[in-house]
Amino acid sequence: MKVLVTGAAGFIGFHTAKALLERGDQVVGIDLMTDYYDVDLKKARLSVLEEFVGFSFYKTDISKQDDVFSVILEHQDIEYIIHLAAQPGVRYSLENPYAYIETNVMGHLVMLEAALKCPDLQHFVYASSSSVYGENDRLPFNPDDCVIRPVSLYAATKASDELITRTYSHLHKLPATGLRFFTVYGPWGRPDMAAYSFVRDVMNDTPIKVFNHGDMRRDFTYIDDIVDGILSVLALPAAVGEVSKDELTVNNDHVPHRVYNLGNNKTECLKDFIEIIEAATGKKAQQVMEPMQKGDVKETYADITLSRKVFGFEPKVSLKEGMTRFVAWYRDFYNC
Ligand SMILES: NC(=O)c1ccc[n+]([C@@H]2O[C@H](COP(=O)([O-])OP(=O)(O)OC[C@H]3O[C@@H](n4cnc5c(N)ncnc54)[C@H](O)[C@@H]3O)[C@@H](O)[C@H]2O)c1
Repeated sequence: MKVLVTGAAGFIGFHTAKALLERGDQVVGIDLMTDYYDVDLKKARLSVLEEFVGFSFYKTDISKQDDVFSVILEHQDIEYIIHLAAQPGVRYSLENPYAYIETNVMGHLVMLEAALKCPDLQHFVYASSSSVYGENDRLPFNPDDCVIRPVSLYAATKASDELITRTYSHLHKLPATGLRFFTVYGPWGRPDMAAYSFVRDVMNDTPIKVFNHGDMRRDFTYIDDIVDGILSVLALPAAVGEVSKDELTVNNDHVPHRVYNLGNNKTECLKDFIEIIEAATGKKAQQVMEPMQKGDVKETYADITLSRKVFGFEPKVSLKEGMTRFVAWYRDFYNC
């Protein structure tokens, strides 16, 4: 089958595209190769994908409709879209808010319009985020919780994507699924995220900033578990047309749009996370205590009951094992 993956040179997009190619699917990749973080890392991911004959790549801005539509015209047999391109990062959304609206809102709309132009399309799967839960104080976070209290523009764009997609799904009977990812980490990961930057800094004897004086908790999810979740749900678009009673209990919605959590269902404190990094690198972290950052939430914790029930999502990799694998990749990739 043919799958369009946006953000294919990004962390999650790269792993997803690679898994699809390894099982023999054709992948059309789109990415703008933005310089939000090291472009060489994106190029290195891309060179791995380019080894596969089934991979074609377009350096395209998803917010430019003509450019995206011309890719779609070339590939009228696309059956699935996995839309992962975004301007990520909670903190950077205070510095450059326009990038978030352009890519995450306008770009998302363009991708929905593109989906309508694919005659064989079976399913539109897109990245949402745990950040949509914002000031939600009911733990663990449940997809049924109301998500109208975001604390960053990034979160607001992701919550908007869910609303816009639900509308398209309603208007055009588009089977669509939003996945709320919880702090994804692993080999080829994102340098702006703690799992990567803490390892880099600890290995270079550079102090790390510990926000909210260490009083933070995160539900960390290993990349392979995320990819398993994406591929499982991809095969299960919500039914269009008559809705069974069973279907109605999922998201309580008669429209073929679903939202699920993809998390580890285990919330870890920052102190333990740093100790795991110290053990994996064999070095002591120099910690500088800092106050809470604007836009951040104190804790994330995924309720994955629904994801388990509907598509058998079962995270397998513990934080200790996952960080050991990450450090091994880091040493090998950077030859250190
Ligand atoms: N990594 C996480 O922990 C996490 C958590 C929650 C949600 N998400 C979401 O998952 C998705 C993938 O995240 P990731 O961690 O792989 O991030 P990433 O930054 O590694 O990948 C995103 C890719 O999108 C590309 N991109 C940015 N703007 C673009 C544009 N206008 N047109 C085309 N491409 C563009 C970037 O060049 C990048 O390669 C994103 O939607 C992100 O918001 C990630």
